Amino acid sequence: MSQFITIAIDGPSASGKGTIARRLALQFHLSHMDTGALYRAVAKHILDQGRSPDDKQAAIAAATFVRDNLSWEMLEDEALRNDTVADATSRSSKFPEVRDVLLDIQHLYATRPPHKPHLRPWAGSILDGRDIGTIVCPTADVKFFVTASAEIRADRRTKELNARGIEADYATVLQEMKDRDARDSNRSAAPLKPADDAIILDTTEMDADQAFEKACQIVREKLV
Ligand code: DC
Repeated sequence: MSQFITIAIDGPSASGKGTIARRLALQFHLSHMDTGALYRAVAKHILDQGRSPDDKQAAIAAATFVRDNLSWEMLEDEALRNDTVADATSRSSKFPEVRDVLLDIQHLYATRPPHKPHLRPWAGSILDGRDIGTIVCPTADVKFFVTASAEIRADRRTKELNARGIEADYATVLQEMKDRDARDSNRSAAPLKPADDAIILDTTEMDADQAFEKACQIVREKLV
């Protein structure tokens, strides 16, 4: 690959998009941003302030706080990864004003990711989220929409939570996932949907290695 490339990966939660994005980033030396973490940081800030994620003004103030104080520590905070924050995130991310505040950071990251002095320059960037191929990086070189049945995603999520020592029951996880999918897909601002030119990668019948291999093959065919 000779020029700076951009890869967009969208899809619902537990579809495998985050794992694919991280592994493609390593494989092709791309700078990776998990944009869900940005939206989760906003929701966590709202909850920390004792406000409601459905309160638009609180959500805009939190997005502004995250934009102005962004750090890797903030995005990697383990406290972003629980279901209370996930539920709040699907509420606070529905506001177009919140999305607008976070758009510039994502653009900047996609086009000029922070350079790490001890590494060779990035070959490109990869962002994963819900609206990367449609709104954030509409001209991305490769776009994936990674999906899987709600049942298999709930099963993966339940096992992941149990492996982390968190008690989780499949039926509850499935219902919460369907609720969040509905909120993400039915909102008017940047709903979860594949870009017209996205490659659909259905991982229902694939394990993590098979999904990664398929994605690698597609990137190679498109770019190398
Ligand atoms: O990918 P995730 O599970 O960390 O995302 C958490 C929530 O953030 C999800 O409900 C949708 C929202 N989100 C969004 O609206 N836009 C993005 N680009 C990324 C995530």
